[in-house]
Amino acid sequence: MNNPSRRYHITTFGCQMNKADSERMAGILEEMGFEFSEDPNDASVILYNTCTIRDNAEQKVYSYLGRQARRKHDDPNLTLIVAGCVAQQEGEALLRRVPELDLVMGPQHANRLKDLLEQVFDGNQVVATEPIQIVEDITKPRRDSTVTAWVNVIYGCNERCTYCVVPGVRGLEQSRTPEAIRAEMEALSRQGYKEVTLLGQNIDAYGRDLPGATPEGRHQHTLTDLLYFVHDVPGIERIRFATSHPRYFTERLIRACAELPKVCEHFHIPFQSGDNDVLKAMARGYTVEKYRRIIQMIREYMPDASISADAIVGFPGETEEQFENTLKLVDDIGFDLLNTAAYSPRPGTPAATWEGQLSEEVKADRLQRLNHLVSVKAAERSLRYQDRIEEVLVEDQNPKDPSQVMGRTRGNRLTFFAGDIQELRGQVVKVKITEVRAFSLTGESLLVTA
Ligand code: SAH
Ligand code: SF4
Ligand code: F3S
Repeated sequence: MNNPSRRYHITTFGCQMNKADSERMAGILEEMGFEFSEDPNDASVILYNTCTIRDNAEQKVYSYLGRQARRKHDDPNLTLIVAGCVAQQEGEALLRRVPELDLVMGPQHANRLKDLLEQVFDGNQVVATEPIQIVEDITKPRRDSTVTAWVNVIYGCNERCTYCVVPGVRGLEQSRTPEAIRAEMEALSRQGYKEVTLLGQNIDAYGRDLPGATPEGRHQHTLTDLLYFVHDVPGIERIRFATSHPRYFTERLIRACAELPKVCEHFHIPFQSGDNDVLKAMARGYTVEKYRRIIQMIREYMPDASISADAIVGFPGETEEQFENTLKLVDDIGFDLLNTAAYSPRPGTPAATWEGQLSEEVKADRLQRLNHLVSVKAAERSLRYQDRIEEVLVEDQNPKDPSQVMGRTRGNRLTFFAGDIQELRGQVVKVKITEVRAFSLTGESLLVTA
């Protein structure tokens, strides 16, 4: 290559899986001798790691891409890559839409970036979207944080929620072995990381595809077993996991979380709708009653646990009354955080073809009403923190106030307090909470414990 700059840029859209994939792809690019550039216009390799969960996520990608495609006309040495879920969904069609692209690669191919790029540098336009067995990652990811890290435990999703593109773009479930997961956590601990979030689209499915059963016939590798297996990695002080699926969530898992001191008291369990008929049409495989029982059980074991979830409003055919059932569930449970979205019909999913699609106005109105309730309830939930002493793992400086640092409580509330980031980064600090807001807290440091 005669391009002098050898700089790369990555913009990541979408969920934590994509963030984790981007960190691994960045690691591969650095091993190849590229240097990170914040500004895409300074880079000779530009990678967009894309999301297609809703239409607006996908459209955002096209507008970013259009800009760089035009730039390529002046700078033919520019290498343009689309990775992730839009790449998987669109495949060859993406090349027809944006002929300037050099490489279109699905999420299962993230670890193969070096191979694929070499084919590009040999003069080929490459599309890598065929389903493959993901190879164990041997490169060193370039992680965004030096304190907290994602660790994939299961890729893909075997559910068939009728609104969702994820199974189509992420493929079948594939668990990593407990040994590989533990080895990655040990490496993280040697590098000074303090917190690990175990990741899977449906993390409760962990281990189903691995061989082995207990003498009682129970599957040997479950998420619960994994937590026990990795819990004592020295240096890792906190363990989180996401995303939980109500269909498979077990009391055994709750007990493990209550019992294992490093596992944080925070559960992310999307419910999607508070109405049984809508849940059925979504093919979620549980009822509102079962969901309520799960939350109740969590609160019996861990009264202070924080609960977050995802919900969709305006699913095809959703009546006002069914929507109100969602409001009622949100009102009753009192979530610490709820990610809400208006239903977006996605190509290749069953619900997109159904009758009873709601107007954008109705969806926007329901979304706004739900969001209002969510912030009222989150503010109520935050009140319990007032004057309490919380353990905060310091991650960074407060970008809005350099005299403050920020981190998270065990329950995952973002917390700010006065302090020096050089001194405190990666420390667990006892903080007295002096101010509470719906989604964040402010406090004063008491002492350094770790
Ligand atoms: N695996 C997780 C969620 C993955 S996608 C789970 O099962 O809950 C993240 C969130 O995006 C979903 O929880 C859902 O709330 C939302 N989502 C997915 N498809 C959507 C669609 N077509 N329209 C609107 N929101 C959607
Ligand atoms: Fe999508 Fe359902 Fe799988 Fe979650 S469990 S990723 S919502 S298909
Ligand atoms: Fe988006 Fe793909 Fe994640 S569609 S939400 S980036 S799995």
